[in-house]
Amino acid sequence: MVGAGYVGLVSGVCFSDFGHRVVCFDKASEKIAMLEHGEVLIYEPGLNAVLARNVEAGRLTFTTDLTAAVDGADAVFIAVGTPTRRGDGHADLSYVMAAAADIARALTSYAVVVTKSTVPVGTNRKVAEVIRATRPDAAFDVVSNPEFLREGAAIDDFMKPDRVVVGVESDRAKGVMGDVYRPLFLRDFPIVYTDLESAEMIKYAANAFLATKISFINEIAALCERVGADVKSVAKGMGLDGRIGNKFLHAGPGYGGSCFPKDTSALARIGQEHGVPQRITETVIAVNDLTKRRMIDKVLDLCDGSVNGKTIAVLGVTFKPETDDMRDAPSLTVIPALVGGGARVRVVDPHGAREGAALLPGVDWLDDPYAATEGADCLLILTEWNQFRALDLKRLASSMTHARLADLRNIYDRADALAARFIAYDGVGRTPQARPTDATQRVAE
Ligand code: UDX
Repeated sequence: MVGAGYVGLVSGVCFSDFGHRVVCFDKASEKIAMLEHGEVLIYEPGLNAVLARNVEAGRLTFTTDLTAAVDGADAVFIAVGTPTRRGDGHADLSYVMAAAADIARALTSYAVVVTKSTVPVGTNRKVAEVIRATRPDAAFDVVSNPEFLREGAAIDDFMKPDRVVVGVESDRAKGVMGDVYRPLFLRDFPIVYTDLESAEMIKYAANAFLATKISFINEIAALCERVGADVKSVAKGMGLDGRIGNKFLHAGPGYGGSCFPKDTSALARIGQEHGVPQRITETVIAVNDLTKRRMIDKVLDLCDGSVNGKTIAVLGVTFKPETDDMRDAPSLTVIPALVGGGARVRVVDPHGAREGAALLPGVDWLDDPYAATEGADCLLILTEWNQFRALDLKRLASSMTHARLADLRNIYDRADALAARFIAYDGVGRTPQARPTDATQRVAE
C-alpha cells in the first residue's frame, strides 16, 4: 500500500483483516514510526482495533522502504493524495506519477498496480506509461479501483460495500483482484468489472451525483423557508419514491470534506477540458458555496442584524460527525465571518480542536456545551455529533443571556426550542418567513 494516509491506511488495515499480508509504505517516517507503535493520527471509529489485531497477527507491517514493500507483492496499491491544484482546480497528479515511477523501479516480479486515489479519466493509462518508461522490462498491469469510503464509517464501508468497482483490462490482473477481494465476493457483495476509463468516471459521477442531491435539497430548503414549507417533510415525501431514495436529502449548512468539493471541482475541469462543460456539477459547486454563506445571514438575522460584541456558542466544527476532518467544513466559512463581525465565539467539538485550532484563530475551545452557552447570545449547531442530539435545551436556554438557537442540522424542532423557552429559533428549510429580510420566526412566549 503506497501512501498511509486516510484511504491507504483504511484499505491496508482492512485488506490485512481479510487475511492478506499487507505492507503499508509512507515517506513520512514520523507517521510510520507512530503506526508501528499502534498510534493512528486520524480519528476513524474502529480503525485502531482492526489495526492492532492485524499487527499482532503479523499480517500488517509499516515501512519507509518502498523497495522492500513492493518486493514480491501481487498487488501494489497507489493511495497517495490528489489535492486540488491551486489556481486551476485540477487534481494534482504529481504524487501519483511519482509513486508510479518509484513502484516501477522497485518491481521484482509481475504485479498489478492498482490506483485507489481518485484520479481524472485517463490517469491510469498515464500511470502505465510512466511505469513502462521507467522500467521497460517490468511485467505489470494497471487497475483502477476507486474507493467509496465515508469518513466515520470507513471500516464498515470497506467491509460491507455497496459495490466494488474494478477497471481492469487483462485476465491475469482480474484474477489477482478477484483474490484480493475474495472475502467480499464470497459474501455476495457486487463487483463491477469495467474498463479503466469507466472505473475512473464512476467515482466522479457517483460523488458529483451525491453532491447534487445535497445541493438540490439545500436549495429547496431555502425556498421552503420563503413559502412556509418544512424541508424535512418535503425530503421525506420525496425520498419515499424509490426512484429518488431518502438518502442524502438532509438539508444543512452545505457539504464539505475531502471528496465532494475536490471531486466536483475536478469533474467540472475535466468537462471543460473535453469541451463538454458539466453545467449541473458547476452549479452544484456554486449552490454549495451560497449555502455555506447563507448560514452566516441566518445567524446575523437571528442576532438582530449584528453579532458585534455578542457571544456565540458553536457546537460542532468538523465537516460531519465522527471525524476530526475540517476540510472544506462549513464552519470555516461561518465562524471567521462571525469573528470578523466582532463576535466572541466559543467552540465545542469532540474531535475538531486538533485541526481546527490553527484554522479557526480567535475562538475559545471548550469541552462542555453547557459551559459554552453560559451567558451566550446565540447557540449555533453546525455539526450533528450524537452528543449534541439530546441536550437539555431548557438548561441551555436558562443560562444564556439571549436564548437564540440556530440549528443548522435540524436536530431540534421549533417546538423543542419553544418549550425550552428559547426566544428565537431558526433551522434550515423549516422557518416560515414573514418578510424576506426577516430570517427569524420569533418564538417568544
Ligand atoms: C463521501 C462519499 O459518501 C464517499 O462515498 C466518498 O468516497 C467520499 O466522499 P464523506 O466525504 O466521508 O464521503 O462524507 P459523507 O457522509 O458522504 O458527507 C459529505 C458531506 O455532505 C458532509 O459535509 C455532510 O454533512 C454532507 N451531507 C451529507 C449533507 O449535508 N446532507 C446529506 O444528506 C448527506
